[in-house]
Amino acid sequence: MRVSIDEAARKLNAGENVVIPTETVYGLGASIYHSEAIAGIFKIKNRPKANPLIVHVASVSDLRFAKTDLPHFQLLVEAFWPGPLTMVLPLIEAIDPQITAGLHTVAVRSPKHPDCLDLLKRTGPLVAPSANPSGRPSPTEAEHVERDYQGAIPVLDGGRCSCGVESTIIAWDPEVERWALARLGSLNPEVIESLLGYRLDRRLKADVAICPGQKWRHYAPNTKLHLFCPSKDMPVVGFENRAYSSSFVYSLGNDQKPETCLENLYDILRRLDLDKIEQAWIDMDFPKEGLWETLRERLTKASS
Ligand code: TXA
Ligand code: MG
Repeated sequence: MRVSIDEAARKLNAGENVVIPTETVYGLGASIYHSEAIAGIFKIKNRPKANPLIVHVASVSDLRFAKTDLPHFQLLVEAFWPGPLTMVLPLIEAIDPQITAGLHTVAVRSPKHPDCLDLLKRTGPLVAPSANPSGRPSPTEAEHVERDYQGAIPVLDGGRCSCGVESTIIAWDPEVERWALARLGSLNPEVIESLLGYRLDRRLKADVAICPGQKWRHYAPNTKLHLFCPSKDMPVVGFENRAYSSSFVYSLGNDQKPETCLENLYDILRRLDLDKIEQAWIDMDFPKEGLWETLRERLTKASS
């Protein structure tokens, strides 16, 4: 069921769940003031309760519950908000504990999508995890959401997401008084590092992860994905400007353009399932730096 911005705002303010567009992926939204709606998110997605949610705001003035007088915070906001950067900040005022999974920190971001910003101005802060059922590829179009939930959840259609993968998450580490990289995403960490003037410590692996979400299986289609080529005629997830021996090529885009490949990624993973492809291999021969690092991480998780 598709809804207008007016209907979406009314439903969210009345404590209902609505799927909202952002520039990264579609999110399953709830007002931070409606406990039942927040509980609804965990039920609808079948999300572990120990996995906290990101609070989305129209502007920094909505962040009274978080500590923002931190080194570089203002500069990061000026450079990257609204946009695909999430920051994990110390919590200074109580909010619904379902949001933080009981942690003393809260993840916040201001999304760049114009409809989402418009909506946030009418609703105040919204929590919104990627709208996919837990473990599956995130939705980047309204149709993806409708297929995942058979039209049962209202969706504000904001078109195709321009980034295509989730926001990059950094977390303030009070012990070393620095920001650390907590999740790879659609903002290149090298751009953040050049603003900060130091390399972000990467806390991405399960044993040192800051985001509880890093522990669970993610982004996976039903298709079994191989990171090497087991047989020549197997379907391939690869690049449009390369030649493959298989005649089934699912193209992520050009091998010089990581932004395009990320934008197409989840749609391609979903298409493998729609086409009932049992097995495919992924061409992992691409650089290790910048946004390619995000593509590598998502594909590796999708194949695990
Ligand atoms: O681009 C995005 O960030 C999308 C759109 C909808 O905004 N949202 C998104 O939400 O990716 P979700 O729930 O799929 O991922 C949120 C991640 C999880 O890995 C969670 O563990 C982490 O953020 N997180 C949330 N609060 C946290 C906190 N206080 N400390 C550490 N990690 C936190
Ligand atoms: Mg997610």
